[in-house]
Amino acid sequence: MALKPKLDFLDLELDQIKKNNLYRKLRYSTTNGSTIRIDGKNLINLCSNDYLGISPTKIETRQMQSSSRLVSGNDELYKNLENKLAKHKSQESCLVYPTGYMVNLGTISAIAKKGDLILSDELNHVSIIEACKLSGARIAIYKHNNMDDLEDKLKQKSKNKFIITEGIFSMDGDFSKIKEISEISQKANAVTILDDAHGDFVIGKDGKGTADHFGVSKKIDLYISSLSKGLGSFGGYVASHNNVIDFCVNKSKAFIYTSALPSIFLEHSLKRLKMNRNKQQKELKENTKIFSSGLKQIGFRINSQTHIIPIIIGGEGLAMNFGKYLFKNGVYVQPIRYPTVPKNTARLRISITAWLSKNEIEKTLAVFENAYTKFVK
Ligand SMILES: Cc1ncc(COP(=O)(O)O)c(C=O)c1O
Repeated sequence: MALKPKLDFLDLELDQIKKNNLYRKLRYSTTNGSTIRIDGKNLINLCSNDYLGISPTKIETRQMQSSSRLVSGNDELYKNLENKLAKHKSQESCLVYPTGYMVNLGTISAIAKKGDLILSDELNHVSIIEACKLSGARIAIYKHNNMDDLEDKLKQKSKNKFIITEGIFSMDGDFSKIKEISEISQKANAVTILDDAHGDFVIGKDGKGTADHFGVSKKIDLYISSLSKGLGSFGGYVASHNNVIDFCVNKSKAFIYTSALPSIFLEHSLKRLKMNRNKQQKELKENTKIFSSGLKQIGFRINSQTHIIPIIIGGEGLAMNFGKYLFKNGVYVQPIRYPTVPKNTARLRISITAWLSKNEIEKTLAVFENAYTKFVK
């Protein structure tokens, strides 16, 4: 008699996911500048986090991987890269992790503890949410960008207090109220943590990020960011005071117990950091302006002031059909559904890049104009 497969219970949940239009499937693709090739079809890519679209750099092959950084994987290039990133953020020190996700998981869970209080914006990225849970601290979720709610929840007694927000919210494209947050935080003697994965290298003077854009970079206690978006490389980093970095090297499990990022990525990040990115930053700003006003003219309700532009559709099925229509017409935008965003707020998350030519933007807007009558009006 055949053994009953022990993992069959997963099928029940998968069936439920399919029934709710929430099923995800991996697709193979090849990106090339502003376009992406999927299933033999070339599409204009509105899904890339490589916002600045800097041309690839030539990499000399170096150490691929040997061990964790505390053992034998700490390539010399780390020193150079971390010094440059600390300077980029005007902080004493920096520590590179394999991904931005791991930076959140590793730093927040190391520095916040039982007895502490973490205030986290309700739209914060899942890596922040998971990190908060892992820390053992009490978690207070404040309403999105709602300063009254933040101040109210901050009144709770605790040992140490932390406020965590994104700079540009990844699925909504709006800015956090980082100026107000940093002031509230200062008054309450709370630690201000800013995850600026989507603003870093893109906005602010020389791409210094969201806090710089709002003139409050000195008020941030701890920066978290990704090297895999605006910089167009790979990895993540935390920049802060010397003791924070020292503490992470000693206590952050996602840093200690994993293999070092291969050196080719360090070299790539260093080369990108060295480049002047002003031209791409300007192009991105211009593309965002053209795209955003084009969508508004068509009739879409757009609230974002950044290169991340969500079109909120609501129902998961309708958002999927919208995505399929765009695909059929040569435009790639992946619909975003629960649990990445709240139920019934499924959306087309458009990310604008400096890769896009004016002609591609025009073509894309024409497709969106036809889609508007079909899916929104
Ligand atoms: C706000 C935020 N933080 C962290 C991350 C994770 O960064 P990485 O892709 O480098 O793991 C993301 C990824 O999209 C993000 O949106």
